[in-house]
Amino acid sequence: MKGIILAGGSGTRLAPSTNGVNKHLLNVYDKPMIYYPLSVLMLGGIKDIMIITTPEDLPRFREMLGDGSAFGINLHFKEQSEPNGIPDAFILAEDFIGYDDVTLILGDNIFYGQGFTTLFREALQNHKNATIFGIRVKDPRRFGVVGFDENQKVTSLEEKPEDPKSDFAAAGLYIYDYRAVQIAKRLPISKRGETEITDLNKEYLKGDQLDVQLLGRGFAWMDAGTHEALFDAAEFVKITEQRQGFKIACLEEIAYYLGYLSKQSLHQKGERMKKTDYGQYLMEIADRKHTEQYWEKIDKNPVLEMVQNE
Ligand code: TTP
Repeated sequence: MKGIILAGGSGTRLAPSTNGVNKHLLNVYDKPMIYYPLSVLMLGGIKDIMIITTPEDLPRFREMLGDGSAFGINLHFKEQSEPNGIPDAFILAEDFIGYDDVTLILGDNIFYGQGFTTLFREALQNHKNATIFGIRVKDPRRFGVVGFDENQKVTSLEEKPEDPKSDFAAAGLYIYDYRAVQIAKRLPISKRGETEITDLNKEYLKGDQLDVQLLGRGFAWMDAGTHEALFDAAEFVKITEQRQGFKIACLEEIAYYLGYLSKQSLHQKGERMKKTDYGQYLMEIADRKHTEQYWEKIDKNPVLEMVQNE
């Protein structure tokens, strides 16, 4: 399984903040936005990840994340010269994907909720042709809406419908087989001047090959693409982290629990950022004597569970 984070685009809804900075490098409370989608792919166990972004911004992502070895993963970078649409990612990543399956996540999407790792890993394991994620939203008319039957087979996909067939929006997380590349090449250009991910999904739907994984009420899904949404997301992360004492999307922590980083290396990374709460947090985790027992007491940690079962 390969992973792609789409982190280009124009970010016009976040101007003037995005006039000189890529949207996905902006902060969501205590860490850059890109950490959130990256954490999702890592939690799924995906280690080969391509970040697609604009030619101007690519060096900054590389500087921030390096080759991924700091988090035990392999990062690749690819330029997208123009925001030609979400399916463009598959064309740009054709050689990277080869004949593997591929998971795409939008760089400004945040997923959080108990059991997310288990659900996502199961979706990756059960995946056949194409899988999208549906989450209940208050006003489905603002979203791409997924209609489905009792077997979670998708029966309809509608963009901002007047009369939605369900309350479930399609989130910015998609799993496909390698055929997505060739399908993406054949897609029409929409009125917006881009190719559309809904059109790609509709191609799978035509062959009855599109499944939906539903995220229930315990999950938060946010897209941080406007000032208000970005502020709300930051507030959500702040409140959740401060109440629980756990960090959301802390890449070094995830890498440590997955066995990619040693205790010593985690501690060193914390030490380098010790003036921040983030750095202190890394050191605190590294200093725990009985990490696994500790987690079991607090919560069933699916990441640890997976590691223990593998
Ligand atoms: P959008 O939110 O549709 O677009 P945008 O990020 O350019 O922002 P705005 O509408 O404010 O101008 O994009 C969704 C995500 O996909 C976002 O994380 C950027 C990314 N994206 C690309 O990287 N390349 C693309 O060609 C498109 C269309 C989006």
